[in-house]
Order: sequence, then structure tokens, then C-alpha cells
Amino acid sequence: MNKGIFIDGHYVGAKRYYELFNPYSGTKLADVALSSPLEMTGAIASAQEGFNRMRSLPAHRRAEILYRTAELYRQKRVEAARILSEEAAKPISAARVEIDRAIQTLLFSAEEAKRVCGENVPMDAAVGGEGRYAFTIRQPIGVIGAITPFNFPLNLLVHKVGPALAAGNSIVVKPAEQTPLSAFYLAELLTEAGAPQGAISIVTGEGPVLGKVLLSDERIRKISFTGSPEVGIAIKSMAGLKKITLELGSNSALYIDKSVRDQLLSIVKQAAHGAFGYSGQVCISTQRIYVHQELYPEFIQMLSEEINGIPVGDPLDEQTVVTSLINPKSQSRIISWVKEAIAEGAKVLTGGFVKDGIMLPTLLTSVTPSMKVSCQEVFGPVVMVHSVTDSCEAVSLMNRSRYGLNAGVFTNDLIQAMQMSTDLEVGQVLVNDIPSIRFDHMPYGGLKDSGYGLEGVKYAVEEMTNLKLISLRYQI
Ligand code: SIN
Repeated sequence: MNKGIFIDGHYVGAKRYYELFNPYSGTKLADVALSSPLEMTGAIASAQEGFNRMRSLPAHRRAEILYRTAELYRQKRVEAARILSEEAAKPISAARVEIDRAIQTLLFSAEEAKRVCGENVPMDAAVGGEGRYAFTIRQPIGVIGAITPFNFPLNLLVHKVGPALAAGNSIVVKPAEQTPLSAFYLAELLTEAGAPQGAISIVTGEGPVLGKVLLSDERIRKISFTGSPEVGIAIKSMAGLKKITLELGSNSALYIDKSVRDQLLSIVKQAAHGAFGYSGQVCISTQRIYVHQELYPEFIQMLSEEINGIPVGDPLDEQTVVTSLINPKSQSRIISWVKEAIAEGAKVLTGGFVKDGIMLPTLLTSVTPSMKVSCQEVFGPVVMVHSVTDSCEAVSLMNRSRYGLNAGVFTNDLIQAMQMSTDLEVGQVLVNDIPSIRFDHMPYGGLKDSGYGLEGVKYAVEEMTNLKLISLRYQI
């Protein structure tokens, strides 16, 4: 398969290509465009025309395109899941969940397209403001540049494309080099669903090269990025007055209080799912677990048993949960962090090594807050568990982090739940859920090094529109 650049509703050839391989099997999947800065500039020009077409569409037409795209994904769910599973080495069952989530995100976007609106402003609330009728309207901001990661190659892209088109913008996408095929598929289905030429362009290639073009081109009015804090911070420093939304990483933490003893088995299963789903390559993967000391020995025992039962293997096998990481570089980094932790006193209860090319689910204890496996984002199949004396100690340890995305708290004590929710320095607190939970309509954004701005369809639409005030003075 040979993919060019998706521009003006079809593929055009590129000058150079790179080979794309399945990270698990090593099979070649496609030749993908290694686009040049000039090719990116051409896509931006097409998107500028696309914006003129998009903004003249009525809301019901924009909604219809998104509804139809969701319907096409329903019909082609099997094919879409296979493409995603093969390029990302995502277990096929998780790939199907991602397709289903993307369908919901498209539907939420279609619904939001119909309520892009402002509000009345009572001008007479200000002394001298009498005699005016005023209201705000929301207008699309123009061409949006999206830079998306490998871990949810479809749904995290739909979180940018859906709201952008719902609001009447056009969008130029630079997908992760490892996972361009799901992005191309989305562009194809949107086009089949009636998206005008230039509404969506997909330009593949090297992030730093193409990112620089997006950041320096005046026609790009907003950058929406999901990826590492390092790249996010660089984008913020280069963005000038462009609007930006940054969804970055985290080392998400979970507290398990002594009041949930009776629910421990269910919590253990959820924690294992949160830590090892898609081999931990999730921004809100459950990385740090703080357990009340009264439950700690039992919890550790139960979690080790649960982890030993996690199916490891081929992503196309229905049972598989943990499989190959996205690339060998990522695997070597994680293994070196685990070895470093062990050298500094951490204990390995399960995993900690690579078998048949796959890093096994790893459970660590005796981890200190300064070890990389605790204070950095692992983005792999590693979880640490630590005993705490009470919820105050848990909050203090959970907050000892450069990140602040999601946090989870299991407790049957309502006052404690409210106190912790107030004190945790994160964007989202999930009481009686793991931190790895996200529903696609909820506001989603991080504090500290976890991000800037919000996603979640309604909130993304707000960030992708300009609010304009119109005041009509009826007594001159
Ligand atoms: C992420 O990994 O950035 C998002 C996780 C999710 O959408 O579930």
C-alpha cells in the first residue's frame, strides 16, 4: 500500500516515503509520505480554501457530515479496528473499544455543531450601559493544526477533528509517524460522508520538521497537540499568539482507602486494567497506587495474582491485554528505568523483564518518589504500590508530581472523598474509579506539566471558536 498526502479530498503523491511496519509482527504495512515543509505548506493553502467552504455550511450540514461519518465507522468497524490494531500493536479488543469511542466522539461533535452559540449580555448591569441589547456569537477561528500521538490513533484525532469541523473550521493533521493509517482512514470516511474539499488534510512525516511549519504559518490559527510534555512546552514557547491546547502526559495516581475492604477484589481488577491496558501506553495509565496500610498486604497479594493472569501475546488474539510496545527504543527506556529503581532499592513482585520480545506487566514496591518509575511518566506496563497511613499522606504523595491530569480515589467515606477531591492538584478527580477512566464528552485537561486548555467535545468547540460581542444601541 502506498499512501501519499491527503489533500483536497484525495491523495496526492509525495516526493519521499518511509516504510511503516507492524510493531508486533514486523510485517510491512505501507509506504507513507515523508512530507517536506513545502508539501505541508501546500496542505495549509488547501485548508485555507477548505475553511471558506466549511464556514459557509449551515450547522445542520456540519452535523450531518459528522453523523454520517459515525455511521460509516459503524459499518466498517471490523476493518477500522484491524487497521488500528496492526499499526499501533493495540490488542484487537481494545482497538474495537477505541472505534466505538470514536463513534461516540463523532456523535457528540455532531450534536455540538447544532449548539455553537453565545449568550445575552445585560449591558445595563453597568452604569451607563442602558439602552443596548447585546449578545455574543461564536465564530470558527480558521485553519487548525493538529498533532496527534500513536496511542489512540483514531479517538484522540477525532477529539480534534470532530470539534474543529463542528465549529466550522478546517484542519491540517500531522499524525504520529507510527500510526498514520487510522488518520488516513478517518479522512477518507469524512470525505465519503460529504466533508468539503480541504476540510481535512493529513500530512505525514517527521514531527519536528512539519510541526515547525504549522507553528510558523500565519494561516494556522490554533495548534491542538497531544503528546509529551517536552514537545508541548516547546510548542508553547514557539506558538506566539496562536491559540493552543496541549494534552500532555502524567504519572496518574490512585488512592485506596481502608473503608473499601469489601470491594477490594473488584478494585484490584480495575487497578490492573488501569495499569496494563494497552501495555500502559496511555496518558492516564494507573502508574502510582497508594493503599491504606491496613489493606496493603492483602492488596499486594491480590494484585500480584491478578497480574500473573494477564494474557500477554499477539495483539490480534482476542484475549491479549499486554503486547509489544510501540518501538524498541521505548522498551529499552522503560527497562532501564526499572533497573535503575531496583539498583536504588525497589523490589520487583512481578515482571521486570522482556519475554519473547514483550515487556511483561511489572509490579514494583519500595519505590521512592524520586525514582523515575514514580516521578516521570513511564508510558509502559509498570505500576508501583506504596503503603500510606491515611488519606492526608496519600494526597501529599499524589501531589508530589510535576503532572496533574487524572487522579482516582476509592473510598466509602464521603467527607474524605470531598476533601481529597478539593486537595488533589489535577484536572479531573474520579471517586470510586481508577484514574484511567475518561468519557469522551467530559472536560479533560491537565494542570502543571500535564497540559494547557481543555478537550472534551463541548470544551474543545469553545477553544476552537472566537467569542464575539455584538451590542445594538437602541437609544442614540
Ligand atoms: C490519552 O492517553 O491521552 C487519552 C486517554 C483516553 O482518551 O482514554
